[in-house]
Amino acid sequence: MEICKLEHIHKDYRMGEVVTPLKDICLNVHAGDFIAVEGPSGIGKSTLLYVMGTLLQSDEGCYFFEGKDVSRLSDAEKSELRAKKIGFLFQDSTMIQALTLRENLIFTQGVGGKKDPKKVDELLYQFGLEDRADFFPHQLSGGQRRRAMAARALLHNPRLILADEPTNDLDDHWSEEVIRLLKEQAGKGTAVIMVTHNSRWAKTATRRMRLEDGVLTDMNA
Ligand SMILES: Nc1ncnc2c1ncn2[C@@H]1O[C@H](COP(=O)(O)OP(=O)(O)O)[C@@H](O)[C@H]1O
Ligand SMILES: [Mg+2]
Repeated sequence: MEICKLEHIHKDYRMGEVVTPLKDICLNVHAGDFIAVEGPSGIGKSTLLYVMGTLLQSDEGCYFFEGKDVSRLSDAEKSELRAKKIGFLFQDSTMIQALTLRENLIFTQGVGGKKDPKKVDELLYQFGLEDRADFFPHQLSGGQRRRAMAARALLHNPRLILADEPTNDLDDHWSEEVIRLLKEQAGKGTAVIMVTHNSRWAKTATRRMRLEDGVLTDMNA
């Protein structure tokens, strides 16, 4: 089943000099895909995830999510789509400082649909955070925060997970564990797009792609 599709996506940034991170991006993403996107720093990998997350509108080309042209959705429809169907695991992901870790996850669940504290506790346990549930965000280490964001991305059984360098700040054990849990989620039918610099983790994906000069190339082909 197709989850989303990028057709000839083009995106410029015009701040002083024009930068074109995405020139002609075509990609079909299916349920259960686990796609690694590699490429040098500053090339446009995060920009690609913003477009796929409906956070950034491309200048040209079409982005379809579950068959719907995202450019035709209202802001409210896009928010609902993001809250219910997309799990974000971004570099600059943040939590609400006034809420504990468990409260943050329950809050995010409530935005996307029904609250399910049991699922929250199960995810906290899977990511080794059960003894940090009542901590505030500022009381967590970088690695613990990263794992918390991974847990949050899995809360809703999303259709699509966008993971931007998800193993940053993590030791080998937790890097492996986060990749394993993302892979397990792909096994349940979620499509996972993972940006990574590390070929060790890229190799675990079912498809390896490289972003360079604004185009995506399939490294398996
Ligand atoms: N909002 C923005 N406005 C202007 N330029 C941007 C913006 N976001 C990113 N860029 C530029 O676009 C290029 C691609 O950035 P990014 O997608 O973050 O790359 P990567 O994730 O591969 O490191 C970089 O040159 C960056 O400076
Ligand atoms: Mg980036």
